[in-house]
Amino acid sequence: MTPERSAYMTGFGNEFATEAIPGTLPEGQNSPQRAARGLYAEQFSATAFTAPRAHNRRSWLYRIRPAAVHGDFAPFAQHAFHNDFGRGPVAPDQMRWDPLPSPKAPTDFVEGLYTVAGNGSAEAQQGVAIHLYAADRGMAGRFFYDADGELLLVPQQGRLRIATELGVLELEPQQVAVIPRGIRFRVELPDGPSRGYVLENFGAHLRLPELGPIGSNGLANPRDFQAPVAAYEDVEGEFELVAKFQGHLWRADIGHSPLDVVAWHGNCAPYRYDLRRFNAIGSISFDHPDPSIFTVLTSPSDTPGTANVDFAIFPPRWLVAQHSFRPPWFHRNVASEFMGLVHGAYDAKAEGFQPGGASLHNCMSGHGPDAATFDKASNADLSMPDVIADTMAFMFETRAVLRPTAQALAAPHRQQGYRQCWAGLRRNFQHP
Ligand SMILES: [Fe+2]
Repeated sequence: MTPERSAYMTGFGNEFATEAIPGTLPEGQNSPQRAARGLYAEQFSATAFTAPRAHNRRSWLYRIRPAAVHGDFAPFAQHAFHNDFGRGPVAPDQMRWDPLPSPKAPTDFVEGLYTVAGNGSAEAQQGVAIHLYAADRGMAGRFFYDADGELLLVPQQGRLRIATELGVLELEPQQVAVIPRGIRFRVELPDGPSRGYVLENFGAHLRLPELGPIGSNGLANPRDFQAPVAAYEDVEGEFELVAKFQGHLWRADIGHSPLDVVAWHGNCAPYRYDLRRFNAIGSISFDHPDPSIFTVLTSPSDTPGTANVDFAIFPPRWLVAQHSFRPPWFHRNVASEFMGLVHGAYDAKAEGFQPGGASLHNCMSGHGPDAATFDKASNADLSMPDVIADTMAFMFETRAVLRPTAQALAAPHRQQGYRQCWAGLRRNFQHP
């Protein structure tokens, strides 16, 4: 029942037009009274109708049945995936977790979602939720959409085949995908056991950052973003539609696949991006620029220059800095930082931060390289350029404090004593 077609159109937020059957997209003002081949026309609006043109996102879908056709919704029991970040005190501890354990029973993508932290809410239209997933089977007869936010998927282990209403995205680790809020999809796992990270963005949709003095090139280039061509499935059966709506999951019977869009046009579509295509801009003289130079996508807030959330990566790069402290420096940040590791090792930690693991450094909580990394970098040969190879770490940085969920705080895979990684930083001060 999987659509066969998986091909891509390039560009970020472009006005795309694609049809799986020639002649199913209307052209110009010549649209007949009825859509071609008995299809229904349906507009999908992901921004306010009157949002400025540069940020307005909508697409027109030509489909076999409208999205309204399904049964009543009832609560869906999956209690690890939610937006309950609590209202009580949040300890300012630095935190780190090992990878989410593999599921014990057969688990699909929706069943395997596990919420780690978040802030804001879908209702407030600001903030994020950060989830992990660990799954070992594809979604069979089940479709999902998230009415609360767009989803940024960061696979760490195993490929994902994401069949969406607008076409098929194939994804492997070191690639990411964004599914617009409300788009229905099914996740298949070609490699079986799989895990990764998910950012759920309640705020303004993710977009490319401005480049400022960097100029017109660099960071993530628009031509490396890919939206799928139209692909549809025309199948009937006893299926299930799962919705995330206002922080809770709901399910409804649906007698057909909702992935039945034969043709579509517009600028709101799922897309994928290969992180290995990121054009890193680094220091060529001395000292580190801020990690904002590694921003792939940003969701702006109402305050200029202050993001609701930034998605930044730490990719392989040359570090050509002289007379400088080479690993990421010690710092405290008004923003809050959740980090994950997709591949290899992260250059600020000698050990303990595993691929699939995560760390959380909240607002003004001090952090930086561990003692072993500090010692190594303090004695490195600065006459030679340094290359950071074979790595892919990332950060979700938010303006509001990330509130860890109760399950993440109590999880057996949370590392107790993470702060000990800095305990070996001795007093080296030499008094005059
Ligand atoms: Fe940091």
